[in-house]
Amino acid sequence: MKAITHTRFGGPDVLHLVDIPTPEPTPDQVRVKIHASTVTSGDVKMRGFENIPWTMALLARPMFGFFKPRQPILGVAFAGEIDTVGQDVDSFTVGDRVFGITGMNMGTNAQFICVPATSSISTMPANLPFNDAAAIPFGSLTAMHFLKAGKIKQGDHVLIYGASGAVGVAAIQLAKNLGATVTGVCSSKNLSLVQSLGADHVIDYTQTDFAQNSQTYDIVFDTVGKTTFGKTKRVLAAKGRYLLTAFAIRHLFQMGLVNLLSKRRMVCSVSTDSRDDLQQVKAMIEAGTYRAVIDRCYPLEETAEAHRYVDGGHKVGSVVLTVAHGPGDSGD
Ligand SMILES: NC(=O)c1ccc[n+]([C@@H]2O[C@H](COP(=O)([O-])OP(=O)(O)OC[C@H]3O[C@@H](n4cnc5c(N)ncnc54)[C@H](OP(=O)(O)O)[C@@H]3O)[C@@H](O)[C@H]2O)c1
Repeated sequence: MKAITHTRFGGPDVLHLVDIPTPEPTPDQVRVKIHASTVTSGDVKMRGFENIPWTMALLARPMFGFFKPRQPILGVAFAGEIDTVGQDVDSFTVGDRVFGITGMNMGTNAQFICVPATSSISTMPANLPFNDAAAIPFGSLTAMHFLKAGKIKQGDHVLIYGASGAVGVAAIQLAKNLGATVTGVCSSKNLSLVQSLGADHVIDYTQTDFAQNSQTYDIVFDTVGKTTFGKTKRVLAAKGRYLLTAFAIRHLFQMGLVNLLSKRRMVCSVSTDSRDDLQQVKAMIEAGTYRAVIDRCYPLEETAEAHRYVDGGHKVGSVVLTVAHGPGDSGD
């Protein structure tokens, strides 16, 4: 099969298209013929360990490899068809259209992947194109993990900072589905998108500092790691929750202190990419209350170019890789 691999950490130039043996499923696995995958903010970090605090890089290295990548194939999200089922699997059949996420195992920037049938994989929402399905899992499962950790409830006022990124566009839609009143913070060019996703209010961060607002929020969800608790607490309700996806060791110490000494709560954690959450998001898509947001699509062969774009830090929603399986096949 064709796959994009990297045998050393570094910039996008370390990524190469190679031919490697197609994996065979174990009895509890299914093999997915991938039609679409993504390049996420997480993938570009794992590629080179650049642009992340050195303390976090040090913690991550034992898991991802000290001197070279343990997993040479990046990519966490996939959408495709079940191609083979292991002998113990009865929950999927060959030909099922599926989507899912492999989390820390990665490996989806390839034509095929084997995953446990009990992992975060589901049949796709009816009539959804593969590209849209691949764009769903990373942002939505991260956002769902954090909103649940922040104990979101109906009627909460929630501010989503970084509302136009993969996690942000998901967080707006999920918070609306869960009955919250939502304020999205983004730059001028993304205001109308954020409104179209259901945000009740928008703040342009290039014009207005949300922390000077007179409104207070039950949850402030910083999806891009650009705010501080010190500044945010001015607009956080007395028992408000501050959620942070991108954090360093110092934030973990700060979280301990905040949670010990105040009624407010700070949440820094790693998404667990729950299978149940994927089912819940699938139901929202089928109900017409959740949609994919795709910025750009690249063919698998141009993954390095996609990484260069994501490295810029200003993508809107997801960057999708289309995976072809023969001449004339565009992937979707
Ligand atoms: N803890 C976890 O389990 C976990 C899981 C997934 C992701 N993450 C982390 O979460 C972060 C966000 O992920 P993502 O995939 O959503 O990122 P992303 O899609 O790359 O985010 C890009 C968006 O960020 C916005 N942005 C950039 N600078 C901004 C600023 N100063 N203020 C407000 N918005 C700004 C951009 O909007 P403009 O172009 O308008 O500036 C752009 O739309 C990453 O650091 C990722 O590693 C953590």
